[in-house]
Amino acid sequence: MRTPLIAGNWKMFKSVADTVRYVKEFRGLVKDVTGVEIVVAPPFTAVHAAAEALRNSNVGVAAQDLYWEREGAFTGEISGAMIREAGAEYVIIGHSERRTLFGETDDAVNRKAQAAIAAGLIPIVCIGETLDQRDRNETFDVLDRQIKQGLDGLTGQQIPELVIAYEPVWAIGTGRNATPAQAQEAHAHIRKRLVQWFGAEAAELCHVIYGGSVKPENARDLVSQPDVDGALVGGASLDVRAFQEIISRSRTAAVGGPV
Ligand code: 13P
Repeated sequence: MRTPLIAGNWKMFKSVADTVRYVKEFRGLVKDVTGVEIVVAPPFTAVHAAAEALRNSNVGVAAQDLYWEREGAFTGEISGAMIREAGAEYVIIGHSERRTLFGETDDAVNRKAQAAIAAGLIPIVCIGETLDQRDRNETFDVLDRQIKQGLDGLTGQQIPELVIAYEPVWAIGTGRNATPAQAQEAHAHIRKRLVQWFGAEAAELCHVIYGGSVKPENARDLVSQPDVDGALVGGASLDVRAFQEIISRSRTAAVGGPV
């Protein structure tokens, strides 16, 4: 069985001081939680401080992006090795905000995923359709293209070490989450493709998590779907209590019982 993974993507929120305050409280709140992989993704400037404050805890740290070169004249960019050295173990790649606001392509996602793996980071690769694409019944085609191109060249051995986040663009920051049935349908499709392209064993071990307006009220129903292996939480992860509640309810959905 896949251990549920709950990650908080803070986007461009929280200073270093806010981050340290949050994670110090948070690590205490979740210290007894077992059976859930917990991750926070602060902005680059706070990754190191978060990792230091979370040392020897059950909470991992993610960066929100990386550049695929190791080093060089790439003003403003950050490499996988730098992120790893700062203390992060995960990196979010291809978030829809990066795709739509910063022109990130499936080819860039692919290079970043390869670079993340080479640097010893676990990539959290985001995919998902827009509302127009859903309305035109193109959801599966979009997901197929994003998986095929984004993960091109990866081997069946690498897939279990990777996380795919299904984030329908229409559900991000809108308060309108995918229904558990819509999420399950998309996740089952993603897993079917993983079986086809990377083999049954790789597909069985790969985490496919859901993102888009996840809140304490809907976390349990979403994460209890058989192919939904956790959540990538935006807005609600900024509040330490709300994020803790999402973790606790997701755990109940996956393993049953209180914390
Ligand atoms: P919200 O949870 O704020 O909808 O954001 C989802 C998201 O983009 C996580 O990466």
